[in-house]
Amino acid sequence: MTSRDDMLVDLGILGALDDRHDLAVSSPIDASVIGRVESHPGEAVRGCVVRSTAAFEQWRSVPAPRRGELVRLLGGELRKHQEPLGRLVTLETGKILQEGLGEVQEMIDICDLAVGLSRQLHGLTIASERPGHALRETWHPLGPTAVITAFNFPVAVWSWNAALALVCGNSIVWKPSEKAPLAALAVQRLLDRAIREFGAEAPAGLSQTIVGGAEAGAALAADDEVRLVSATGSTAMGQAVSEAVAKRFGRSILELGGNNAMIIAESADIELAVRATVFAAVGTAGQRCTTLRRLIVHQGKYDEVLGRLQSAYSDLPIGDPFDPGTLVGPLIDSEALAKMNRALDIAATDDGKVFGGEQILVDRYPNGIYVEPAIVEMPTQTPIVREETFAPILYVLRYRDFSDAIAMNNAVDHGLSSSLVTMNLNEAESFTSATGSDCGLANVNAGPSGAEIGGAFGGEKQTGGGRESGSDAWKGYMRRQTSTINFSGSLPLAQGITFDAVTCR
Ligand code: UN1
Repeated sequence: MTSRDDMLVDLGILGALDDRHDLAVSSPIDASVIGRVESHPGEAVRGCVVRSTAAFEQWRSVPAPRRGELVRLLGGELRKHQEPLGRLVTLETGKILQEGLGEVQEMIDICDLAVGLSRQLHGLTIASERPGHALRETWHPLGPTAVITAFNFPVAVWSWNAALALVCGNSIVWKPSEKAPLAALAVQRLLDRAIREFGAEAPAGLSQTIVGGAEAGAALAADDEVRLVSATGSTAMGQAVSEAVAKRFGRSILELGGNNAMIIAESADIELAVRATVFAAVGTAGQRCTTLRRLIVHQGKYDEVLGRLQSAYSDLPIGDPFDPGTLVGPLIDSEALAKMNRALDIAATDDGKVFGGEQILVDRYPNGIYVEPAIVEMPTQTPIVREETFAPILYVLRYRDFSDAIAMNNAVDHGLSSSLVTMNLNEAESFTSATGSDCGLANVNAGPSGAEIGGAFGGEKQTGGGRESGSDAWKGYMRRQTSTINFSGSLPLAQGITFDAVTCR
């Protein structure tokens, strides 16, 4: 057995692979096939949802702190298997091992958060205007929850949703990206182990994973019994999901694209700014929703920042994501390369000055796609700058007045993440004020990517408006019930209305 097989055995998924299955899963490292798994057509979704509804009907009655115990066990499995799971994430997505392991750490962190939360799903008591009345708000489990995830965070984003959904009393159906189903199947196995250890209170079908394409996603979005669809991916996918879910008055949490900017102000610590830029722009080979795509630099610092960036970019270790020295792994596939090349061509015709951006390592990896991340100096934010291209392209622009920089930050369709590097308190406060950045995430002296799980994660405009992960995002996974309890013995009406015409004798 190879070390790759050991890893798959350890994660319990070697059995899911079979040469007769229809979906070939390959590694972007060298495009070799890791194995073949079975994918399911849209029609298979109905059966999953029926099982999920039956599971929900039992799970909602298990006390929330007890539900938290299951998530604690899941966190334990993840801790035990962090190394092989992190390696599988790297193998399947091409992100460097540090980031593969970090992705699993993010899962462990959200499990810890959810365990604590399972004892804090608290509502409110509200002062009633009527004598002898209590007014209160209670949060109840919502129902079967579909989680649709993308290739770039194949397991962490599921865990933000699943850990919360489980403690909130919901059942889960997961449709992972067809580009990265193995890590998902491995995580499902780890959860299955946790469920076995937890015991019979966890019903069969509490968590299911269905490997499938767009039709499976569409079937989940359209199914009346799926009360919540949490989807991560492109804006086009999110639009389709949100229309289908809205049509049947379901609920959706959408985490779609981003076109994230960083403003480097005149007073910025340039060393910090450059380091933050490089991590946010080239980390995960530019394939995070939070990747830095637009750098808006004060004109007085522009030349210095550009020079430092170009020298950092000239020295980037690009290659095998398992090599501890590598910082930039491969792109996911040739489609990503085609999109990158298209964007660079358009930018060049818009008078952009392109630095880097070439495909490299072709001899070593004839089938893997490795590129030098690109820096493109742009005179203005032309339409291609305002488009999200899921590749390592950093557009660099200059500004003179801080208010213009904020306007440039906001002049795109997406509203996920943003950041400002400054030593000026007034700028920092105005950037995070009501008239500052219009994004869901607005950071100061930190890049736009790499959020912690403790805060609510998501963004505005074409990012979809959803919030996942920390803070009070859990409320999105529950239904709110307002109750008026009358213990007065009479029937005073709200708003002081008298309505005595009807008397019961
Ligand atoms: C994503 O790219 O979909 O903030 C999620 C970050 C990560 C999550 C990114 N914690 O960059």
